Amino acid sequence: MSDINIAFARERIEQRGFLDVDINPTLDLFAEIERLKKEKNAVILAHYYQEPDIQDVADYIGDSLGLAQQAQKTTADIIVFAGVHFMAETAKILNPSKKVLLPDLKAGCSLADSAPPDLFRQFKEKHPDHLVISYINCSAGIKALSDIICTSSNAQKIVESLPSDQQIIFAPDKNLGAYINKQTGRDMLLWNGACMVHEIFSLEKILKLKVRHPRAKIVAHPECEDHVLKVADFIGSTTQLLKFVEKDPATEFIVATETGILHQMQKNSPGKMLIPAPPNNACACNDCPHMKLNTLEKLYLCMEYEQPELIMEEELRKAALKPIQRMLDISAQFGL
Ligand code: 13P
Ligand code: SF4
Repeated sequence: MSDINIAFARERIEQRGFLDVDINPTLDLFAEIERLKKEKNAVILAHYYQEPDIQDVADYIGDSLGLAQQAQKTTADIIVFAGVHFMAETAKILNPSKKVLLPDLKAGCSLADSAPPDLFRQFKEKHPDHLVISYINCSAGIKALSDIICTSSNAQKIVESLPSDQQIIFAPDKNLGAYINKQTGRDMLLWNGACMVHEIFSLEKILKLKVRHPRAKIVAHPECEDHVLKVADFIGSTTQLLKFVEKDPATEFIVATETGILHQMQKNSPGKMLIPAPPNNACACNDCPHMKLNTLEKLYLCMEYEQPELIMEEELRKAALKPIQRMLDISAQFGL
């Protein structure tokens, strides 16, 4: 791109979060993306909540732990992160010398937004004897204030790795924190954050579905509220939910997490009936509006123009790396 185009690109990205350049409608985006991967030695890491087309062109699809582990070990020069901002940040924190691209820089997370670093710092200062375990769904600023990071697939093991009398602050997800408190018998101090998608499920409608599908098993993500988790047959991270549905002999499942996961679930378990758990209103609120900001078009454009790029201050990156590294080390010890 010429200097003028770079200036244009920066302005558009600042305004809109992505490059809104016209794409020739006859272009085969799947083939173009494959070409760009090879030409630029780029890898596409995607979360299960991305739209099906993005999942289909990804080199790796996974939960937050799997994505962080892939980001840690990739030899690609460019990491294209098809997920939300905190996930791309984690990839950048682990790979300061690589270019990390996010198709739409405004793909945020309601849960991460629920913990502003300044307020969290004040909260932490009031509890100097507590260690801070933060769920990976938080900003780099919160990670830098944390002792260990966890994901939904390793949270219990991470908490149990600390002495039972160690006082702990758990942030930012109060639902995951409450669930881990229950599982471990701890009394962690919980930050009052939540995910807008996982708090929208209607228990009443789930129970009505269960009457119509009495053999269906309910699987739920631990970001769901306690009343939903209480009726679940299995609780786990997105990868754990996928594996459970694949291996369990049941043929019908009510799935209480973001709907993007149904694409891989159906691929992995072709003969099974998957019913998305209904939200408590008439909208499609169990689609994450942040995850769904990324599209195949934006993915192609970000690879073509290598924008938007995730840039991070080195001091912040170093501070955020420590608790992430601790999580990865503990996970490796447990074979996770
Ligand atoms: P996991 O895929 O790690 O279970 O996380 C779910 C989620 O909400 C990501 O934003
Ligand atoms: Fe954040 Fe919830 Fe969307 Fe995950 S599903 S990115 S936790 S808002």
